[in-house]
Amino acid sequence: MIGQSDAIKEVFKKISKAVKTNINISITGETGTGKEVVAKTIHYNSDRKNKPFVAINMAAIPKDLIESEFFGHEKGAFTGATARNTGKFEQADGGTIFLDEIAELDINLQSKLLRALQEREVTRIGGTQKIKFDARLIIATHKNLAEEVKKGNFREDLYYRIVGLPIELPPLRERDQDILVLAKHFIKLFAKENNMEAPVLSSEAINKLMKYPFPGNVRELKSVVDLACVMTDHDEIQADDIHFNPIGNKEDLFISAGKTLKQFTTEIILYHLKKNNNDIMKTAQILDIGKSTIYNLLQNK
Ligand SMILES: Nc1ncnc2c1ncn2[C@@H]1O[C@H](COP(=O)(O)OP(=O)(O)OP(=O)(O)O)[C@@H](O)[C@H]1O
Ligand SMILES: [Mg+2]
Repeated sequence: MIGQSDAIKEVFKKISKAVKTNINISITGETGTGKEVVAKTIHYNSDRKNKPFVAINMAAIPKDLIESEFFGHEKGAFTGATARNTGKFEQADGGTIFLDEIAELDINLQSKLLRALQEREVTRIGGTQKIKFDARLIIATHKNLAEEVKKGNFREDLYYRIVGLPIELPPLRERDQDILVLAKHFIKLFAKENNMEAPVLSSEAINKLMKYPFPGNVRELKSVVDLACVMTDHDEIQADDIHFNPIGNKEDLFISAGKTLKQFTTEIILYHLKKNNNDIMKTAQILDIGKSTIYNLLQNK
């Protein structure tokens, strides 16, 4: 985990306390602030590091399937249950269970979760056997859980059960000192993954990064930097190589798709060509590349 701001140092301090015990951890912070990174850092620096880290995202799993994800099911427990399935709590035995976006958990399941946490045991759906589990609990949410309790969306008893040691991740715009170290870190990472020399950042490029509020936080910074590494024609990233796309995180999806540098470049050029009604001149200007680059690409596609 990278960072040198006072805020992130506070987080590091809490992490170092957290790894020494099994206390529950609750992580809050806007999207892309590094909640999952914190959860993994705690697990992999704790005594449990050689046991599983099991993550479940409440926002990503259909409501009807969460109970079976949590606790597992026996063969024939419901239509479609063609085999026995162990649940994530069982799978996490000895390790850490990370419940991501916990605020999205249905109120009925909240009571089932509370019971499992209190008893430290689960029963598979359709089963009778009680199965003990020993897993460290880490939860995360971008919502304010205390507010959710007040609004009646989240059980108060469950809240107190899981809150443990709270770790708050401030948005990147409130920790300017982290922008540059993170940017340099992501440049090195990208260069390594793509077998290229790591470019440096020009001072104008640094200024441009420092001025931007990063609504998508660290995730957005990573995607901006990755794209800049692709776009730069030199060994130094210029301000013009830095493009912001604040709504949504399209570049993140785009960048994580495991493509080659050539494929990225092709996609970017084709994207801008389409946007500019196939005007090669204009596209070349916008991307600050030669027209011949575009002609070559279209010929060899
Ligand atoms: N301090 C950090 N050091 C290095 N990388 C970081 C740091 N914080 C975040 N990242 C990177 O930023 C990206 C987003 O982090 P992460 O997935 O942990 O965010 P999140 O808070 O869980 O976001 P969401 O709420 O959208 O799930 C990841 O690529 C992660 O590796
Ligand atoms: Mg996350």
